[in-house]
Amino acid sequence: MKKRTAILISGRGSNMRALIEAKQDAYEIVLVVSNRPDAEGLELARALGVEALAIDHKPFGKDREAFEREVDAALRARGIELVALAGFMRLLTPYFVRRWQGRLVNIHPSLLPKYPGTDTHARALAAGDAEHGCTVHLVTEEIDAGQILGQARMDVLPGDTPQTLAARVLELEHELYPRCFAELARR
Ligand code: GRF
Repeated sequence: MKKRTAILISGRGSNMRALIEAKQDAYEIVLVVSNRPDAEGLELARALGVEALAIDHKPFGKDREAFEREVDAALRARGIELVALAGFMRLLTPYFVRRWQGRLVNIHPSLLPKYPGTDTHARALAAGDAEHGCTVHLVTEEIDAGQILGQARMDVLPGDTPQTLAARVLELEHELYPRCFAELARR
């Protein structure tokens, strides 16, 4: 049986697309949720035949858990078993992370444990790193620190900028994420 999977997004959804289009036998994407109603990825998901739902975080103000309870209810109503974060730009509280522990996955654009958080490409350049890449990992309460499920690496080239690095890392992400996610789904 394919694992029923939801993807949480906030933006363009290129990793979401890669996860949907990989047509893996171990998981099936049945729902996409965005905390931003104007996220490009919502239309893209619908065009790819996947139910797409906007749950705007703004009306919940500072009550992050109330927002997450709404997301959680939408996931449970659809019998979701695994959750993939793909450019989801909200920090999750321990409430949500504990509920989905071991079944909640993220992709991060650095070779963790290097550069958790933002501006990873600029930080790799500033450090003079010879290698850069991306990491798929389980989500825990500490940001970008859960068990690593897989990494993809590439060389940093002379003349690279944060933009050129981001573009090449993104290509690696699109290959790495479906592969690592399917491995988790097979467990
Ligand atoms: C990716 O670089 C991902 O690693 C990071 O946010 C970006 C999302 O891009 N967490 P997309 O929405 O999947 O195109």
